[in-house]
Amino acid sequence: MTRWSDAVGQDSGESYHARMAAFAASGQDAHGEADFVTSLLGTGGRVLDAGCGTGRVAVELAARGFDVVAADVDASMLAVARRSAPNLNWLERDLASLDSAEPALTGGFDVVLAAGNVIPLLAEGTEADVIRRLAACLGPLGLLVAGFGTDVEHLPLDHVPVTLEEYDTWCGDAGLTVQERFLTWDREPFEADQGYAVSVHARRA
Ligand SMILES: C[S@@+](CC[C@H](N)C(=O)[O-])C[C@H]1O[C@@H](n2cnc3c(N)ncnc32)[C@H](O)[C@@H]1O
Repeated sequence: MTRWSDAVGQDSGESYHARMAAFAASGQDAHGEADFVTSLLGTGGRVLDAGCGTGRVAVELAARGFDVVAADVDASMLAVARRSAPNLNWLERDLASLDSAEPALTGGFDVVLAAGNVIPLLAEGTEADVIRRLAACLGPLGLLVAGFGTDVEHLPLDHVPVTLEEYDTWCGDAGLTVQERFLTWDREPFEADQGYAVSVHARRA
């Protein structure tokens, strides 16, 4: 059981999609994550959207011309994703058993993205292994990009399961080092007590 399914059950695809659509309709920036990835990669590249959910970000990245593979363990979220973009490469996979040697995942990704609180919503105790598996999907110059809440106001949970220090340690164990960290997807400067972080990790030189 992931913390996500513990928190919302296994049938949250449509309600999550409706919530995100309402957010976009209210005039809020719905493509901050896609803009951030675009700013890293420019006009092309391979992206693995890990914990893609309903495909909110993957669909936008594919529309911008990126070569996208998207994986999630929640079938109800993926059902919405498949409906939105039937031809995109959706994988129903648990990140805790993701295999970088499977054909869809070989060749090295330029960005592995874990947007929208994926890291703190993994199953307890699997985080270090998941990060090692995500790191194994990166090409030599690839970047692991993750955005997640560091206080309860920024999480769909009543506690904070993952600190940035723990995340950096797990990344370090996977051979990655932090390259940049921001408060928001539009690159506001990071502030430790503001409850959110967007982190970019690269292979240690
Ligand atoms: C809040 S949703 C974010 C979805 C999407 N990234 C977005 O930003 O809209 C968190 C997602 O992480 C996924 N997730 C959590 N643990 C996972 C795991 N072990 N394997 C695959 N997906 C996982 C959940 O199924 C859920 O779809």
